[in-house]
Amino acid sequence: MENGRTPQDPHALEPTRLERLLFRLEAQHICLNWAVEQIRNRPGPVFELGLGHGRTFDHLRRHLPDRDIFVFDREIDCFADCTPDETHLILGKLSDTLPQARHRFAGQVVLVNSDVGTYDEAYNAEVAALVSQNLPALLAPGAIVLSDLPLNLPEAWRLPLPAAVRSERYYMYRSSCEHDRSFSQSA
Ligand SMILES: C[S@@+](CC[C@H](N)C(=O)[O-])C[C@H]1O[C@@H](n2cnc3c(N)ncnc32)[C@H](O)[C@@H]1O
Repeated sequence: MENGRTPQDPHALEPTRLERLLFRLEAQHICLNWAVEQIRNRPGPVFELGLGHGRTFDHLRRHLPDRDIFVFDREIDCFADCTPDETHLILGKLSDTLPQARHRFAGQVVLVNSDVGTYDEAYNAEVAALVSQNLPALLAPGAIVLSDLPLNLPEAWRLPLPAAVRSERYYMYRSSCEHDRSFSQSA
């Protein structure tokens, strides 16, 4: 055994940690580009959950330059040139800010990019439950949700990932609309 791996070790056939990061960022890039086109002609605000260093926010604002993009985080830790202006930055814990957002944005949000996961699986389960609980009231009919964590959105469909995506750990949903409801009732 060398370097903590044997040649027969099944983990040796899985993507390396480096490849997993690469695939995750690639999935995010491909899915963001896809989602932006889906909502380009649909008015309504966009939510970025997890400013982090501001990379995905920077991508969204580049491709949706005239859109209101509201960015949620408990802290500002981004590249200086990726700091949202104060009218679009919603600072605080998601457990506070998402329920409050309902008063202003109920039923209006056309795209959510949720990027709040960590390496802590217990925290991921907790924050995914929080996001799942609060998003439905905010989403416009037919809204797209991208997420680094699996969400439980009863009024939404899980969408297949674009063919070029190599990560299985990325998630896309579309909230249902009247057309879906009448279709499922008549089917
Ligand atoms: C992975 S980073 C986001 C990366 C970012 N999208 C980017 O491209 O640079 C996750 C962010 O979510 C924020 N976050 C995680 N849980 C949160 C919570 N419960 N309330 C508010 N912010 C949270 C963290 O502070 C962190 O900045």
